Amino acid sequence: MSESYADSAGESPAGRAAALDAADELAKLRAQFVLDDTVYLDGNSLGALPRSVPGRIDDVVRRQWGSLRIRSWDESGWWTAPERIGDRIAPLVGAAPGQIVVGDSTSVNVFKAVVGAVRLAGGDGGGGGGARGAALDEARDEARDEILVDATTFPTDGYIAASAARLTGCTLRPVAPDEVPDALSGRTAAVLLNHVDYRTGRLYDLPSLTAAIHEAGAVSVWDLCHSAGALPVGLDEHGVDLAVGCTYKYLNGGPGSPAYLYVRRDHQPRFDSPLPGWNSHADPFGMTPDHVPADGALRGRVGTPDILSMLALEAALEVWDDVSIEAVRTKSLALTDFFLECVEAYVPAGAVESVTPADHGERGSQVALRCADAGEVMRRLIAQGVIGDFREPDILRFGFTPLYVGFADVERAAGVLGGLF
Ligand SMILES: Cc1ncc(COP(=O)(O)O)c(C=O)c1O
Repeated sequence: MSESYADSAGESPAGRAAALDAADELAKLRAQFVLDDTVYLDGNSLGALPRSVPGRIDDVVRRQWGSLRIRSWDESGWWTAPERIGDRIAPLVGAAPGQIVVGDSTSVNVFKAVVGAVRLAGGDGGGGGGARGAALDEARDEARDEILVDATTFPTDGYIAASAARLTGCTLRPVAPDEVPDALSGRTAAVLLNHVDYRTGRLYDLPSLTAAIHEAGAVSVWDLCHSAGALPVGLDEHGVDLAVGCTYKYLNGGPGSPAYLYVRRDHQPRFDSPLPGWNSHADPFGMTPDHVPADGALRGRVGTPDILSMLALEAALEVWDDVSIEAVRTKSLALTDFFLECVEAYVPAGAVESVTPADHGERGSQVALRCADAGEVMRRLIAQGVIGDFREPDILRFGFTPLYVGFADVERAAGVLGGLF
């Protein structure tokens, strides 16, 4: 447990929870969310509703849409929302402004990023057309015809990477993240990895894996769905090439809120999106037949932004105004440590087994417990007011969102779990 959260060692779990909550500098943030008396440990699937969102959506619908109508594209900042909100997410993932654009689902952004990565690596046969295509032809390396994908990935990334491989003439090779350094070669064009494993909660070493990918001359694509908003990512610091992530988990943007795409600044002039919709055009209202990509991150845009959910996300992000991601990480580790301790104290030995690494350097913000009949155990937990989720075949998943989960929640969840055996 991190030092600032370690003072109450020695007391009962309930006493420790009370002391930890009393000392928690982030505890006040819980009041900014709509919560009830259940213990909500599913923010790694759908974040809770921030109180700022309903009023904002009401204003967007009634005033911006209802009264201003078409004027809102300019006057309410609708048109520039994808870049503006991207810049709001940027500090949370360690990116300077101008490199993140919000829109579409994570799956769609995985597609843009993986095809874009292969094109950056020159592994797609130099396609792209026009002057930029010619530039890519020059950079083209015939040998780069392989995409590596995390073999344990959330399925959508694997499905999309397989399609991206077919489209670019590459071979897709699934590899466990630990084995990526050995699997890299002069044939590797792009590597798609998850920062945190959605099932086990394992955190992968983004700095060293990105460095290994670069040493092989390949392009990295990171899926940040389970790390953004839960821990520091350091995209710029570690030279990540491209990244994607959702906003409905630890960023609390709401069901189906738009995802984002990060394109490192120095790659932007050569980033060749496979979905060059009119919103990514340098002059979208010029309505010209040829696509001329805009400068900067906004060449990652596709079509008309989904304004209602995008502006709900913008309101949701206000909760981060005075919060550092480092403080969130410190509390996250304290919460998951405390949960593991309480499970040990309350759950009969052998009934569950943690598949989440004990090492802080390898842990995201969730704990996954392997358990016989896990689906039924989760149903009973939910019936008793502890909301986690079940993942096939035998995993109880508990997500800890430091913005609104407290230590008493953790103690209660472990107590209820122990009572089921
Ligand atoms: C790692 C990861 N990638 C992608 C997705 C899903 O992406 P989409 O926003 O397209 O549904 C999830 C959803 O939980 C996920 O956990």
